[in-house]
Amino acid sequence: MSTTAQAHPNIALVKYWGKQDGTGNLPATPSLSITLDTLQTTTTVEAAQGSDRLYFDDKAADDPKILAFLAELRRLYDIPPLTVRTQNNFPAGAGLASSASGFAALTTAIDAECELGLSRSTLSALARMGSGSAARSIFGGFVALEGPAWEARQVLAPTEWPLTTIVVITSSEQKRIPSTTGMTLSKQTSPYFPAWVTSTRADFDLGLLLVARRDFDALAELAEQSCLTMHALMLSTRPPLLYWNTATMACIEAIREMGQAGLSVFFTIDAGPQVKAVCLPQAAEEVRSTLQQISGVEQVLTAGLGNGASICLS
Ligand code: DP6
Repeated sequence: MSTTAQAHPNIALVKYWGKQDGTGNLPATPSLSITLDTLQTTTTVEAAQGSDRLYFDDKAADDPKILAFLAELRRLYDIPPLTVRTQNNFPAGAGLASSASGFAALTTAIDAECELGLSRSTLSALARMGSGSAARSIFGGFVALEGPAWEARQVLAPTEWPLTTIVVITSSEQKRIPSTTGMTLSKQTSPYFPAWVTSTRADFDLGLLLVARRDFDALAELAEQSCLTMHALMLSTRPPLLYWNTATMACIEAIREMGQAGLSVFFTIDAGPQVKAVCLPQAAEEVRSTLQQISGVEQVLTAGLGNGASICLS
């Protein structure tokens, strides 16, 4: 017997960067995200003999983060050694939130395979132990993650405010400094870290309000501000975390120009050089065709809002 689950990456409009001290991978800031539909991780788990075996795209892999996560789960539940096979239909480890969809799919598959019968909230809290942003990929649409429980919850279903995201890939190389390492460095070395935590709490409250009102223009301003403040924090970290390349900057400029010309679009960027342009569906075609002409852009993907993690019925 085996179980297959799928989950989509999400992108934060109000960003999470930094962790609380102690165990459990508790974020230092709340966050607000959208789940994307066309990008997807598919993960199959089945009981194995002896020890855990991991395969990424059918190749044997050794991923300490996943092995540590499985060890953590086994402190709470009775889980046998597992064979885990996982596939992404988009570049992994390049700032496209593959760890979010990956841990959400893995947690969902293990719950079903081992008949744990866990609620979505519990799955979200468990996925968070693997990767903070994974807590949000358990849910679809607009998703909030905040303390004290640090279980994500859905704020709006995908159909309640359909937005389109144009994902612009400017490099498919693996990122140089993983998020977990970068967050620790920012907290330890950036003089801006306390201010970041304070401003993000206020941004999160405002973000919830703007999503409830479907106020695109105000959300655009807030999301760009949250993104740029996070990157300012990254730049003020020692050693500096500079995730952008020349094409990243060119995309930012193009999106700002489109916004000034009246198109409903804004940018957001995570721990990598890819740019996500979030827009109203009627602006998507123009945004896409403008961005794909920019020098250095390798690939452009289009996504609507997706559902939460789910079991694939064979
Ligand atoms: C920049 O969830 O990848 O994408 O909890 O250490 O696995 P870990 O970090 P991760 O960090 C995501 C950071 C971000 C912003 C966000 O998604 O909120």
